[in-house]
Amino acid sequence: MKSLQEYAALVEERLPGYILAKCDASSTLARAMLYSLMAGGKRLRPAMLLAAVDMLGGNSGEAMVYACAVEMIHTYSLIHDDLPGMDNDVLRRGIPTNHVKFGEGQAILAGDGLLSLAAELMLEDALTHPGSMDRRVAAAWEIIRGAGAFGMVAGQSLDLACEREHVGGSKELDLIFLGKTCRMFIHPLRAAARLAVAEEWAVDALDRYGLAFGRMFQAADDMLDIEGNASILGKSVGKDEKGGKLTAIGVYGLEGARALVDEEMAKALEALEPFGPEADFFRELVRSMRGRDR
Ligand code: IPE
Ligand code: IPE
Ligand code: MG
Ligand code: MG
Ligand code: MG
Repeated sequence: MKSLQEYAALVEERLPGYILAKCDASSTLARAMLYSLMAGGKRLRPAMLLAAVDMLGGNSGEAMVYACAVEMIHTYSLIHDDLPGMDNDVLRRGIPTNHVKFGEGQAILAGDGLLSLAAELMLEDALTHPGSMDRRVAAAWEIIRGAGAFGMVAGQSLDLACEREHVGGSKELDLIFLGKTCRMFIHPLRAAARLAVAEEWAVDALDRYGLAFGRMFQAADDMLDIEGNASILGKSVGKDEKGGKLTAIGVYGLEGARALVDEEMAKALEALEPFGPEADFFRELVRSMRGRDR
């Protein structure tokens, strides 16, 4: 079994090559995409995709391009999330945000570039493997669907709407968490299941894990905005309350948010039961996220 750090290192090694193969390295676009992509994220989503493929008996080597595509899409979501028209943040992954460094227009385009390159790479992979095109297209479909108008983008839109209109309670918070955060875990896991041709019970279990993990992860993220340390976190703190965000703390209070983290952790661990010891990577991951400081 590989660790999160081992999977993250594999992804880290492969990411820049995908960009450099497609763009002029000296262009502003390539520099802006690489600036945020290679700034040292935790690489959780691609690591989870690869670990799931391994757990399900698939070939994680062939899954690498899908894992890297997920990280490109996640990085695009961070670049756009930080824009002045969204959360208006100046620090990300320990360095100035993309728009602070390259200007707003270039940051928008760096995000657009990462999103479309991710789709391009996955479809190219599917088209060049006619014998297994079905499962590869299905994996790409899951990833794009989870990121788009059904998933992350929808969650981000509701997040902004609730902030701007000062509305929302637990129902809206559930939808925001599901869209902006959980879908970016659930669908990469579903992509892994497609690549490894997993059985339906495994897809259901991974769905439940992804949902609980995402809810726990976002509740912890909301707590870190209050209790975290910007220099460890690599992003500014205290922004959610100032911006009037609908967060787990706003709805449930700090103690309530802490309880939510524990509840969702228990649900995530329960979802892993049918896999037995094969799922130890995912057990360790969820436990390590409980008291995370970044
Ligand atoms: C940040 O995600 C966005 C949220 C969903 C809260 P991560 O905390 O995984 O960010 P990186 O990839 O490590 O920078
Ligand atoms: C963002 O949630 C989730 C994304 C889809 C990027 P946040 O706005 O809370 O994420 P951070 O705190 O800026 O990383
Ligand atoms: Mg946001
Ligand atoms: Mg933000
Ligand atoms: Mg946050």
